[in-house]
Amino acid sequence: MNPSPWLLAHGGRVFEAAQRWGIAPTEVLDFSASLNPWGPPASVRSAVAQADWTHYPDDTALRASFAQRHRLDPAAVVVGNGVSGLLFDALRIWRPRRVLLLEPSFTEYRRALVAVNACLVTWPLRAEDGFQPNFGQLGPFIRETRVDTVLLNTPHNPTGVAYPPEHLLEFVRTVAQHSVRVVLDESFVDYQPENSLIQKAANLPNVVVLRSMTKFYTMPGLRVGVAVAYPPLAQELRRQTAAWPVGVPALEAAQAALADEDFASRTRLRTECARRTFAHALDELGCTVFPSAANFLLLRLPRGTGTDLARWLEPHHVLIRRCTDFVGLDDRYVRVAVRDDAANAHLVALLVRWLEERRQAELTSSQDSR
Ligand SMILES: Cc1ncc(COP(=O)(O)O)c(C=O)c1O
Repeated sequence: MNPSPWLLAHGGRVFEAAQRWGIAPTEVLDFSASLNPWGPPASVRSAVAQADWTHYPDDTALRASFAQRHRLDPAAVVVGNGVSGLLFDALRIWRPRRVLLLEPSFTEYRRALVAVNACLVTWPLRAEDGFQPNFGQLGPFIRETRVDTVLLNTPHNPTGVAYPPEHLLEFVRTVAQHSVRVVLDESFVDYQPENSLIQKAANLPNVVVLRSMTKFYTMPGLRVGVAVAYPPLAQELRRQTAAWPVGVPALEAAQAALADEDFASRTRLRTECARRTFAHALDELGCTVFPSAANFLLLRLPRGTGTDLARWLEPHHVLIRRCTDFVGLDDRYVRVAVRDDAANAHLVALLVRWLEERRQAELTSSQDSR
């Protein structure tokens, strides 16, 4: 089976791996897509099962519940076909000419920029700075490079870094004075909701905030995202979006997910504990583990390459995310989802074996070359 070219740039290619390995998709241990291992909530499964999709969908109820949950005007809320779909929609209405990306970043951003013929300007995030941007320097850089739109992501994929909301807000307000617009992708912010700018965005005419239901609620196959923007901008976005971007089962699922506050608080707690244990174990193996505010960890391997590791893990039916297609990262880096303790410990045990094999191989080759 040849996967679609766009699929090649993403984690979560479970169906393809299952077919290649001759197993069921449920037998693949997927660390490559950062999905909540404790989801979806039971309420979501039952909402999907009970949905009546014999009528055209109507997203009014979901917009109202999202608005109520986040204390927003429903007129500021737009429902779309995942953040990926809404990103294309937002760029289509703005038609940016020069867009700033902080790299490495989610690979879909580049694809969206190509689709609207925008010229790409990049700002490198460096491992030595913990992948934190310097917002004070970004403002002048944007003016020098005549950027009209900035694409930001917090917590940032693939680094896991969350930007302090007060810095971000100040940055957004400063660039607004120069008519620069900001798309803020908060797809992983449910893990630290206090970092969200969602309420502020609804009053800022230069910002669109994108929120995904995919990661936190484990609904990648349903495709629900929400954009929040200043109401006139939100109205424009709705006008330009294709009719019925989200079907009834997905709308019902999203409603059920948002209502499940117990699931949300348990997920935050469990993820934080599992991430801490996992990061500690990986650090003990000699990996450089970058602090993360999301449900994934970016690592630099102490030896070997991500490509070799990914291949070695195949007979164990484990997928990880190599990082060679992230601008600014190389094959020493991999990204792994935080799963439950048992799954994380399984990957750590496999890594111990792989690292030992690599060490032995390096020893043999250095002896041979003497
Ligand atoms: C930063 C970021 N934004 C958006 C998405 C996709 O979200 P959705 O499934 O809502 O399209 C991803 C998926 O990996 C992501 O990493």
